[in-house]
Amino acid sequence: MASSASKPVRTAVFPVAGLGTRFLPATKAMAKEMLTVVDKPLIQYAVEEAAAAGIERFIFVTGRGKQAIEDHFDLAYELQATLKARGKEAAIAEATDFLPPPGAIAYVRQREALGLGHAVWCARRLVGDEPFAVLSPDDLVLSATPCLKQLADAQAGLGGNLVAVMDVPRDQTNRYGVLDTPDPESRTPRVEGLVEKPAPEAAPSTLSIIGRYILTPEVFAELDRHERGAGGEIQLTDAMAKLIGRQPFHGLRFEGERFDCGTKDGWLAANIAFSLARSDRREAAAEIVRRAAAGLSGDAEGRGDS
Ligand code: G1P
Repeated sequence: MASSASKPVRTAVFPVAGLGTRFLPATKAMAKEMLTVVDKPLIQYAVEEAAAAGIERFIFVTGRGKQAIEDHFDLAYELQATLKARGKEAAIAEATDFLPPPGAIAYVRQREALGLGHAVWCARRLVGDEPFAVLSPDDLVLSATPCLKQLADAQAGLGGNLVAVMDVPRDQTNRYGVLDTPDPESRTPRVEGLVEKPAPEAAPSTLSIIGRYILTPEVFAELDRHERGAGGEIQLTDAMAKLIGRQPFHGLRFEGERFDCGTKDGWLAANIAFSLARSDRREAAAEIVRRAAAGLSGDAEGRGDS
């Protein structure tokens, strides 16, 4: 146990088999992880964040209808040949610079949508006996230091299991895995219990997990049991809860703003925030936001007059 916890985290698992039903019709024929924020698909943000945290092995737990993800992380010969013939070197760089080295990405299929715990379990043979990260591409974090790097740095000191957490309004605890902790105000609250999607009145706190985890491989032995939890699904939260008391387990109040890009509101907010944060997009984006806001107040006045 101690030996696996002290190894550096070099493997990341990306659960990308989800159907994206909250984003229909956009996700009818397109992987939800290919939705773009500004000009990049969500999955690329997640892979770049992982690479910035020192991840060398990228495991995608994928499913039917997700071919575009594999193509995105491959060369596109026709596109490149055309761009080259036109002398568009910068565009070629845009399309290739983010690619991890050949052989660094592996794909495994989750055959049935049995839950996040089951998706992570599908990666067990590729992860092996090492601590590993899990990144959910729906959760996008805008921060000075990439969120997973913050986690990896904290985990190097604390060891064991670490999950990124944030306070949510109490009426939203039923959307998250929630911490039971004696020190909720701490930057790294100690985890004494975890509950998946508790009703607001039953939630042990409002400190909730977002889709960034560093876990020890012992979680796979718990996932092997295939126990069903909230919503009848095999929950990662339930398997993690079994490790509490056996290994260090902490939350990390990460620095940054998290956007739930699995929802239309979160995705729109992310597009605005990420545009404003980018020097090449800021001015145009600010103008668009200003005009939209002016239009809104204009409407309000118009309605008031009539
Ligand atoms: C999953 C996890 C939950 C976590 C959430 C973060 O839920 O089961 O514990 O808080 O991701 O996004 P899902 O959003 O897949 O229902």
